[in-house]
Amino acid sequence: MKLIYRKAEALDAPRIADLFLEMLRTIYNTDDVQGYEDGYLDKFFSTEQEDLIYVAEADGKIVAYLSVEVHRREGYIYLDDLSVTSAYRGQGIGTKLIKMAEEYASKVGIIPVVFHVEKSNIRAHQLYKRLGYQDNEDQGSRMRMAKELRKVK
Ligand SMILES: CC(C)(COP(=O)(O)OP(=O)(O)OC[C@H]1O[C@@H](n2cnc3c(N)ncnc32)[C@H](O)[C@@H]1OP(=O)(O)O)[C@@H](O)C(=O)NCCC(=O)NCCS
Repeated sequence: MKLIYRKAEALDAPRIADLFLEMLRTIYNTDDVQGYEDGYLDKFFSTEQEDLIYVAEADGKIVAYLSVEVHRREGYIYLDDLSVTSAYRGQGIGTKLIKMAEEYASKVGIIPVVFHVEKSNIRAHQLYKRLGYQDNEDQGSRMRMAKELRKVK
């Protein structure tokens, strides 16, 4: 299977929105989930902004994405949503997308990388720990995790 990793563009928005719903269904174990608000994804496709989405494509179809926000003023990179469609999980795709975001963070020179994980999402939590993320703040049902990167000169 050949995987292509690339930056998402506006045409990818409907598929990304579907993967977002799949992520919520998986995490919360219910079909009663709400998608993105209209226009929410637009900021990730604007060439004037630093926020972006990385996608993995297999057989011409997007099978995973990770959205990345650059919070320049606050000084951190925020990983917003990460979803790998069920048939493609456990093959290193999530890890690769996170590594791409980390490379991007290093390139723009902003550290740390921060995100949230549901504490009930034990396998994802373990994966992030393996990738060097540390529990940063217990926020009830969610844990904020963070990793300090080295700046690339
Ligand atoms: C969590 C997730 C993004 C990881 O991506 P991935 O491509 O499956 O992960 P990788 O192949 O790079 O790494 C495999 C590890 O992911 C973790 N993982 C979490 N959920 C998993 C799942 N449903 N299937 C397989 N691996 C999963 C495991 O720790 C696994 O390691 P193991 O094989 O030692 O158990 C992906 O499984 C997914 O989309 N899950 C559902 C939605 C979700 O939980 N999103 C994250 C929100 S914070």
